[in-house]
Amino acid sequence: MGDGSVTNPFIIKSVDALQVLDSRGDPTVEVVVETVGGGIGRAIAPAGASRGRYEAVEVRDGDLTKFKGRSVLRAVSNVVNYIAPAIQGMDSRKQRDIDRVMMQVDGTPNKSRLGANAIIATSLAVAKAAADTAGLPLFQYLGGVNAKVLPIPMLNIINGGVHAGNELAVQEFMIVPIGFDTFSDAIRAAVEIYKELKSILKSKYGASAVNVGDEGGYAPPMKLVREAIEALVTAIKNCGYDLEKQVRISLDAAASQFYDEERKVYRIDGMELSADKLLEYWKNLAIEYRLFSIEDPFHEESFDYFTSLRKELKDSTIVVGDDITVTNVDRLRKAIEQSALSGVIVKPNQIGTLSETLDFINLAKAHKIYTIISHRSGESEDNTIAHIAVAVGGPFIKTGAPARGERTAKYNELLRIEKFLGGDAVYAGKILQL
Ligand code: PGA
Ligand code: ZN
Repeated sequence: MGDGSVTNPFIIKSVDALQVLDSRGDPTVEVVVETVGGGIGRAIAPAGASRGRYEAVEVRDGDLTKFKGRSVLRAVSNVVNYIAPAIQGMDSRKQRDIDRVMMQVDGTPNKSRLGANAIIATSLAVAKAAADTAGLPLFQYLGGVNAKVLPIPMLNIINGGVHAGNELAVQEFMIVPIGFDTFSDAIRAAVEIYKELKSILKSKYGASAVNVGDEGGYAPPMKLVREAIEALVTAIKNCGYDLEKQVRISLDAAASQFYDEERKVYRIDGMELSADKLLEYWKNLAIEYRLFSIEDPFHEESFDYFTSLRKELKDSTIVVGDDITVTNVDRLRKAIEQSALSGVIVKPNQIGTLSETLDFINLAKAHKIYTIISHRSGESEDNTIAHIAVAVGGPFIKTGAPARGERTAKYNELLRIEKFLGGDAVYAGKILQL
């Protein structure tokens, strides 16, 4: 590398990894990158429960004598034995080169050899080490002086599907505080509604109804989707907020989870619905409750029904892709060709590198598709997605209920960023035409 490598503080000096725990108590990969200039970057891979079929693959040991097969020691040793030697000595600012090198060393289309968990933790840790070396917060390192928009949070306050032990088919019931002046005002309103919902659920269903699911939302013993939405409506109204202008309601159906592939039916509300009937079902709910968005309303191959729902709703409700797009530009291109989506979920670990995540965001934005930077149901204290959300100007972030440390880690970081930006901070809800 010549003389430059001796004096360049951004050169990667070391890459190390260890096994830590996520919010479900599952082992996961933490990577620590240090630069010659003393910059440190640390990142922890999250993990999904309702994963899309086309996601990059996390490597787990499968050794049933340890952590019930969930340990990630192989992924950890892949960082130490394969990734570290390949990227040590590289300039940490060359994110795209570094991500490319990791993909080459991996050599598979879905990162299944080294593991997407090993690669994403390294990719994010590299960016954080570069930011630290530059003396910049990550959001400014990634987004420059233009990064000043605080995202609208979509807070999942009733949990169902595979995230909870109840019978609700829909996985997430969210509140979206759009009509506020600042991010902190939006969070305050969300917390008030979350607390009000707690007393509503407790008085109607008993104390066990306010036990929480994987993302910190309550997991009441409800069966019907409408019942959960009604509880949100009551909580929002009791707090004195306007359902049109201030706080809207969103769903993540995660429909692949309740689709019976053999019989080609969706099991929801104790019924078995054909795709056509489900289309009707969503249309009615969206109109009745003026839903802000519906994520994964059909299973992950069903591009045509996403398109039909968009047409039916004439974009009055945002149709969001998650399992169908999996932060993969090829999947997004297909969705764009078919006009299937008006919003997409962005999960860095679904694709496995920061540069591919940013490419996905750029493609979505170029086609006027709203980007929702998102956590996973298995999370940690890592708050990188808060920085990514501000770096790219949101406009949305989905990171669970305003409770449980792994969820508040992101909201709290956004509150810190808001304070850091001072008078320059702009809440996305103030500038978006929603
Ligand atoms: P997951 O769920 O992290 O369990 O995949 C989150 C989501 O579907 O949005
Ligand atoms: Zn989802």
